[in-house]
Amino acid sequence: MVKPEDPNRVLIFDTTLRDGEQSPGISLNTQEKLEIAQQLARLGVDVIEAGFPITSPGDFEAVQEIARVVDGPVICALARTVAGDIERAWEAVSNAARPRIHVVIATSDLHIQHKLQTTREDVLGQTRAAVAHARRFTDDVEFSPEDGFRSDREFMAEVVSVAIEEGATTINVPDTVGYATPEEYAAMFTRLYELVPALNDVTVSVHCHDDLGLAVANSLAGLRAGCRQVECAVNGIGERAGNASLEEIVMVLHTREPYLGLSTGVDTKEIARTSRLVSRLTGYPVQPNKAVVGRNAFAHESGIHQDGVLKERTTYEIMDATTVGLDANSIILGKHSGRHALRQALSELGFELSGQSLNTAFKRFKEIADKKKVVTAMDLEALVTDELREEVEAYQLEWFEVEASSRRPPHATVGVRTPEGTEVVGSFTGDGPVDAIFRAINAATGCDARLREFRVDAVTGGQDALGETSVVLELGGFVCAGQGVSTDILEAGGRAYVRALSNAVRRRTMAAEAEAVAPEAQPDAIPAP
Ligand code: KIV
Ligand code: ZN
Repeated sequence: MVKPEDPNRVLIFDTTLRDGEQSPGISLNTQEKLEIAQQLARLGVDVIEAGFPITSPGDFEAVQEIARVVDGPVICALARTVAGDIERAWEAVSNAARPRIHVVIATSDLHIQHKLQTTREDVLGQTRAAVAHARRFTDDVEFSPEDGFRSDREFMAEVVSVAIEEGATTINVPDTVGYATPEEYAAMFTRLYELVPALNDVTVSVHCHDDLGLAVANSLAGLRAGCRQVECAVNGIGERAGNASLEEIVMVLHTREPYLGLSTGVDTKEIARTSRLVSRLTGYPVQPNKAVVGRNAFAHESGIHQDGVLKERTTYEIMDATTVGLDANSIILGKHSGRHALRQALSELGFELSGQSLNTAFKRFKEIADKKKVVTAMDLEALVTDELREEVEAYQLEWFEVEASSRRPPHATVGVRTPEGTEVVGSFTGDGPVDAIFRAINAATGCDARLREFRVDAVTGGQDALGETSVVLELGGFVCAGQGVSTDILEAGGRAYVRALSNAVRRRTMAAEAEAVAPEAQPDAIPAP
């Protein structure tokens, strides 16, 4: 259980891997989730909501792995008020040094009547039984009345009182559909504190969605009304318009601390890197003008502004880019740098590589350094993130050939290593060289995947910048993303495509296995809250 001594300390509950992962098209495998969780620990969040274990064997496995490996934050798993959910959540987090079970049931009449098709009395009974059940496993239990903001205040107060009576230690009141305005959300908490004095003995939490673009403002209003935990996601990803964005909340509290008097335990210098990692692994780009982490968040276009900043930075900047870790380009390696220098540079970036993974990273580094004059910290970060994921059993792009000309359709041939270790070859003529490579990969693997999105970004500026590509594809109803990094856009695209394909094939296999074991317990049968 976390309840800091300092009454002004705000707990950061990160739900990137649970609510964030519910964003359409995001499907992270266990290793990717683990990488994000490790970075969240480095960032210094207090709680990681690692997943919703009952929804799929993959989600269960990822939560279990995070609980086993990640040090520092509380590791939390979500469960409905169903014994099986709670037991599965516990099974997944029990190895964590500090495990938490998060129990949720809707309390708005709209949800009770239409979604749950039950009664208020039943919701009260389910809350009592579920929280008591969760407390048998751990003394850190969070309870959320879903659609709390649209719930009748007196009834929600009754439910929350029952949850506290049964031992819930955190009460989180979500604005599930992003309907609140800041004043109303704050007023809801003021009323709840009046109705349930026992709220003063537990941690009270905010959880806001961004349907009207108010998630951060609403979260802040809740904190001003006395809440001391905020649930948020990196880059604001999540259901529909997303969750409150972690980096914005943290930087509001940090930048305006003299006014707000609230603080967090986050190491703000890790923010930019966390944002890049999440964007890379989820395939969700960060808009250029996004507060705090957007490419232009610290850029000054107008001459007057540039002049002002050169004379005195604070004329037009309320935050220093270095505070959020945007000065990360200080590490520079070249083609003569050796294994030791690489290892040292990676260690400064927080990657402790040795043995085979260091060898693989070194090989990729040399390939890149031969083509690029200097390899920067941003390049290394992109490279290592790209490289570490090769360890998962997956398809791998071994080689490719493309014939491209403006006079005839491009033709590609690819060699792909299958998860079983054999090389398969495929050829195809496409509309463009990238299209030809993607279709040739389909031909080689026998997969009829459809491309949904393809994006190319440069990791840094300059003509020899590394290209970073992101692919979203669909295979048999499974929509998955993959990323690739290379100095060659075609190679980066091919790598991203086979990754996305591997993720989709893995998900399809897991769904088929789950169906074979328990036809009645399909992931789809469990509506995500
Ligand atoms: O938005 C919501 O209500 C949720 C709950 C599980 C807290 O995500
Ligand atoms: Zn939510």
